[in-house]
Amino acid sequence: MSTWCDRDFRPRCHFTPPFGWINDPNGLCRVGEEYHLFAQYYPYEPTWGPMHWLHATSRDLLHWRQLGIALRPDDLGAIFSGSAVLDAENASGLGRERGPLVAMFTHHGASEQQSIAWAEDGVHFTLYPGNPVIPNPGCKDFRDPKVFPNPVRGGWSVVVAAGDHVDFYHAADLIHWRKTGEFGQGVEGVFECPDCFPLAAPDGSTIWALTCSNIHPEAEGGSRTQVFLGAFNGDAFRADERFPQGTLLDAGYDNYAAVSFAGAPALTVLGWAASWTYARALPTSEFAGQMTLARRLSLRETKAGLRVAQEPVVPETACSPAADGAPLPGECFRLRLRAEGPFTASLENEAGEVFRFGLDEGGFFTDRSRAGLSDFHPLFAAEPYSGTRGARLAEGPAELDLFFDVCIAELFADGGLFASTSLVFPKAPYSRLRLEGPVRAEIGPLA
Ligand code: FRU
Repeated sequence: MSTWCDRDFRPRCHFTPPFGWINDPNGLCRVGEEYHLFAQYYPYEPTWGPMHWLHATSRDLLHWRQLGIALRPDDLGAIFSGSAVLDAENASGLGRERGPLVAMFTHHGASEQQSIAWAEDGVHFTLYPGNPVIPNPGCKDFRDPKVFPNPVRGGWSVVVAAGDHVDFYHAADLIHWRKTGEFGQGVEGVFECPDCFPLAAPDGSTIWALTCSNIHPEAEGGSRTQVFLGAFNGDAFRADERFPQGTLLDAGYDNYAAVSFAGAPALTVLGWAASWTYARALPTSEFAGQMTLARRLSLRETKAGLRVAQEPVVPETACSPAADGAPLPGECFRLRLRAEGPFTASLENEAGEVFRFGLDEGGFFTDRSRAGLSDFHPLFAAEPYSGTRGARLAEGPAELDLFFDVCIAELFADGGLFASTSLVFPKAPYSRLRLEGPVRAEIGPLA
């Protein structure tokens, strides 16, 4: 239980560890009908410690089966973030009967270097005896390898965060890697958890996205994920000047290290729902850390140019109209809004706490400055972390979808052109909806 009040705050529909700490999603992939989720994990305390990988699987990206620890620290160091792919043709030669699931991750010891492990059954991993497969090139921060199939050269490429930029390597077999390029010099802060994947543009062409998480300069220390759009020539990613660069994937402060599922039928990402600024201080109980909902990404043409839109992967649920003052149906729900102009929606409780969001002249906004507990960290409910903003990129009535789950609010607007994820810790569950302005609402179950 929280030391600040007697609430547990464990969300119902978002992935959390049974006990202990999680941060970044790792090894996201789909094999057959199952999605695999691994996570940075410290199993012994709800605080960051020598990192393991926790493993879970799901068929719908909402209900997860916990499979325990997949990888644990060894002589080369702790197991930092990384990825996993199905080596279906057994190019690595590591599988015996069939293509193994190969995980590539950072061994964080005296230095950071990239290693692999494989699991023929997708669950029980064996470390490759020749680790590391990419030794440290003389760079203090060298981590978070994300493997993807190389459509130009065949085989695999991996994008690795290397200080203020990312490195690209290529291998035919997931073992013998050769450096092929770099991207991103000149970006402030340390890159973490990069990803590189293709998306279909509205005109039918393929545009590549390079995402990386880092301390975002404008956010005064907020850790957030940026998206660059361009091309991948088989060696490296190049940004394309026709597109807006370095846009935020999520306007909120609580979506970090989002990466994509390898082998998924549609480009799907999932992130860690916290900020390094205050993650260690959050008032949850025997667990610390949760993931965002999974989100499908697409490209949309907007008045500001081509943008990435995101749609949460949740089932359609039946919603009923809700007027100003309507009671909220528990702590896990979906709120759909259609606004003809500026409006504010509020979730309130009897303690006078309120989470507000809506639309004003500046665009979409959220405000958690009076949303609940905040004295666990001086910045959580202070500027800039107290609120989020995003200019509208679409015209006409605004449609918003809020997914609320105990202590997390994920807001999507204008078909996912605006997304904002916020943690909130109300002392008592929010019980009432307030609406001001030309807005109609419907409420239903989240899943
Ligand atoms: C990002 C990160 C990664 C690292 C991991 C350690 O949140 O700092 O760069 O691999 O967390 O847990």
